[in-house]
Amino acid sequence: MTDRPTSAAYLASGFRDVDGTGELATFLGCLQYLEELPTVQAYKQQALNRLELGDGMTVIDVGCGLGFDVARIAAAVGRTGRAVGVDPSAALLRAASTNPRVTLPNVAWVLSTGETLGLRAEVVDAVRVDRTLQHVADPRRVVEEMYRVLRPGGRIACAEPDWGTFVVTSGQREETRRIADFWCDSFRSGWIGRRLTPLLRRAGFVDVEVTGHLLVAEGVDAIDRVFDVKTTAARVSASTGDTSFGQRWWDALCTDEWPTAGVTVFLATGRKPSGESTPDAALGQAVAGSASAD
Ligand SMILES: C[S@@+](CC[C@H](N)C(=O)[O-])C[C@H]1O[C@@H](n2cnc3c(N)ncnc32)[C@H](O)[C@@H]1O
Repeated sequence: MTDRPTSAAYLASGFRDVDGTGELATFLGCLQYLEELPTVQAYKQQALNRLELGDGMTVIDVGCGLGFDVARIAAAVGRTGRAVGVDPSAALLRAASTNPRVTLPNVAWVLSTGETLGLRAEVVDAVRVDRTLQHVADPRRVVEEMYRVLRPGGRIACAEPDWGTFVVTSGQREETRRIADFWCDSFRSGWIGRRLTPLLRRAGFVDVEVTGHLLVAEGVDAIDRVFDVKTTAARVSASTGDTSFGQRWWDALCTDEWPTAGVTVFLATGRKPSGESTPDAALGQAVAGSASAD
């Protein structure tokens, strides 16, 4: 296989520090490719609808990447509103601010992590995060920070995959399980999808609603671009010392009649209570008790 198993351009781990990888083009290519997928557009539209945006609102997108969702928000809040893209990658923010699809008058960019947004409390009308908590070691901190900056009554939308639901066509079940597990465990929070409901409830959100959306890729090229399976197979080879493992698996995928892969994206939405509220303490203890890397 031609992939370098130790390359920093691995999609499962590189997004946690894009600037540090020195491989910006890989991450830009991934974000651009995903943006065009109909199944991605479908769940993003749902997330936008459930934020119930209107004219004049200020909305932040945490982990905005190339800013495509910032553009969607900017259109929904009108000229008197403001869409703010937050991201810790200076390189991605530069690309976003010059992205011809996003250069709108009512957008702003903030270089920051989701853990520390650097905003006063209760200053934004809605918040969203999309495929970003999966790259964060402690997603609870980010959700609590989003709660803090949100005004009472404001809405949140979190869309995150759960990599425990990743599937890919293969006649080699054991080998495919190893590849799927390796890919999942290479994310900081690979099981974040299933945790969104307790995370939101524990932070204090109410009216929490969760739905599942299948993100599908068909054909080996699309599968590799979205799910980085070739590099994963090479990394499993390197980690086990079975040098031909990855090549065998990849060759089999390439000869499959119609290769298909998919993962469930969980979309959780909720509302910050209008009055005084305290997070659900009992639920909080339950979540803390079961907390792990995922
Ligand atoms: C897979 S991309 C998703 C980008 C965008 N939300 C989208 O849907 O296209 C993950 C993004 O999270 C950002 N990110 C990584 N760690 C972060 C953190 N601690 N706080 C906020 N964003 C983070 C990355 O720089 C990257 O832009």
